[in-house]
Amino acid sequence: MNTTNPIGLFDSGVGGTSIWKEINALLPNENTLYLADSKNAPYGSKSAEEIIKLSRKNTEKLLEENCKIIVVACNTATTNAIEILRQQYSVPFIGIEPAIKPAALLTETKSIGILATKGTLSSALFHKTAETFTKDISIVEIVGEGLVPLIEKGKWESHETKVLLQQYLTPMLDANIDHLVLGCSHYPYLIPTLKKLLPSHIKIIDSGEAVARQTKTVLKAHGLLNNTTQNPRLQFFTNGNITVMEKLLPSLKAIEISEMDF
Ligand code: DGL
Repeated sequence: MNTTNPIGLFDSGVGGTSIWKEINALLPNENTLYLADSKNAPYGSKSAEEIIKLSRKNTEKLLEENCKIIVVACNTATTNAIEILRQQYSVPFIGIEPAIKPAALLTETKSIGILATKGTLSSALFHKTAETFTKDISIVEIVGEGLVPLIEKGKWESHETKVLLQQYLTPMLDANIDHLVLGCSHYPYLIPTLKKLLPSHIKIIDSGEAVARQTKTVLKAHGLLNNTTQNPRLQFFTNGNITVMEKLLPSLKAIEISEMDF
């Protein structure tokens, strides 16, 4: 495998660009190729079988493009499919899971909230992690029903989104949480609205930076870090709406966004 081959990323849509931003900031020399499977969003309400099928389809597309590592930039796909992907394909995989561990270690009220999709919260992998780290802590799990479709439509700051968030935060505030874990890669785009709705002592935690650090560690361990200083190629493919993708990405010259059916 060549070190200049791209890092591949996929998500059920535009959300994983929040992870891509962290990876690009930490590893600015790397070529990247991002697949937004917006046509099939949301994954969160699909069965584990469907999520596995879609994750395989995305992985195979990224492998066709010679990706040297695959970042599953979706909590729902990670928690339902990453073990199967690792068994089936020889390329290294990086996943994203809700950051329960740091929240559980830092909480003073012994109460944390987690906002994620139904697919993530009902997965065996999520339950295993939650059981390990939250033994003496109460955890308020809320399904962010409807949030991913709104973000996919570019409505992350709309009144509709604010109303839903208010509804989802109420039981968490009643339970006196002091940390809110964002368990979906779309949700970092809700942070400005969340900050307006939450008291300032509640900390919002997402997993983007940790995923970028883990990507660097694994690339290094495999001798796959790209140390050339050439300008990287930053490719984005969406089978959905290109305009929403454009709004979320920085206006860098190197960024190429195209529509593609996959
Ligand atoms: N970005 C996906 C995640 O992290 C959203 C899942 C969905 O499409 O429902 O879980």
